[in-house]
Amino acid sequence: MKLQSDFPLKPYNTFGIDVKAKLFARFDSVQELQELLQMPELKQEQKLILGGGSNLLFTKDFDGVVLQNGIKGIEIIREDENYSYVKAGGGEVWHAFVLYTLEHNLGGVENLSLIPGTVGAAPLQNIGAYGVELKDVFHELEAAHIETGQTQVFTNQDCRFGYRESVFKNELKGKFIVTSVVFKLHRTHQLNTSYGAIKTTLEEMHITQPTIQDVSAAVCHIRQSKLPDPKQIGNAGSFFKNPEIPVVLFDVLKAQYPEMPAYPVSELTVKVPAGWLIEQCGWKGKVIGNYGVHKNQALVLVNYGGASGHDVQQLAFDIIQSVEEKFGIRLTPEVNIM
Ligand code: EPU
Repeated sequence: MKLQSDFPLKPYNTFGIDVKAKLFARFDSVQELQELLQMPELKQEQKLILGGGSNLLFTKDFDGVVLQNGIKGIEIIREDENYSYVKAGGGEVWHAFVLYTLEHNLGGVENLSLIPGTVGAAPLQNIGAYGVELKDVFHELEAAHIETGQTQVFTNQDCRFGYRESVFKNELKGKFIVTSVVFKLHRTHQLNTSYGAIKTTLEEMHITQPTIQDVSAAVCHIRQSKLPDPKQIGNAGSFFKNPEIPVVLFDVLKAQYPEMPAYPVSELTVKVPAGWLIEQCGWKGKVIGNYGVHKNQALVLVNYGGASGHDVQQLAFDIIQSVEEKFGIRLTPEVNIM
């Protein structure tokens, strides 16, 4: 729980941006967190809670205290006929939690395999992939109030989950620190293999009766083939959200761009893959010095080493502008820009 100053953050953000924090401390329990929050020298400091640093773009040094969540532990706390309730510490690595569920043969998060980041950060943006979102298996979480250190329980409804959204990105932004999450996992499995790439990958693997372990293996395979490994190339996954547009606008665009993909959201709106829009504007695989747009997935911006957060932010602005000029659709970042 040692307080360190002038702390280098490069190893703590998957974009690999070389910035510093005025102060840094790690907590390994709720009690340690509460002690930190009570420290007079930290009371007035701006606070940033760090999980895996996988959804962040630093554009400058952080003038405050970075608190790293190190709360560990995964356990089954309750079981009934259909479900096991599994509690995981906010500082657990997300994929380590997924591996635990596979070992215990509990279904629900296999499609979310290999998502970078931590358990505590996952509910903030309701992580999702391959047809599944965290909210589908979320039971409740415990979070500490950043001012008082008092803990509070939030149910699924309290979190107000949406597409890459929760109350913690909106009304309660910066107010709570997630200390643990309880998941409601299936003891009898209901696989979700409807997402095209999963089906074809399982076929290629010659698997006709997939298990949750097979689905996880397929997801890992797809992710590894499409998405750059942050240990090798700095990135934060999808940089933008997939925009939701009115069906009437989509119909107009479809007439002009018959290939344009879209997924229905409601009777009035569809979601368009931002990766497709960005690719159509000629950005896919673009390299600008030591940063650029990933060659296999146009939604992922990359730092080949030594790029500044400003460089990447400028690239994001340029992409937003060109997509808006061509399609009249304004992309919004999914990544937190600091
Ligand atoms: N596409 C292109 N060009 C590209 C990339 C995508 O044309 O360069 C089009 C294709 O039509 C493709 C479609 O976009 O079929 C969808 O692409 P993909 O399956 O890669 O998914 P995505 O919509 O680009 C979302 C999530 C990912 C998640 C995948 C799989 C968002 C912002 N991103 O990406 O999440 O892994 O679906 O479910 O919703 C993340 O949030 O960091 C992330 C990686």
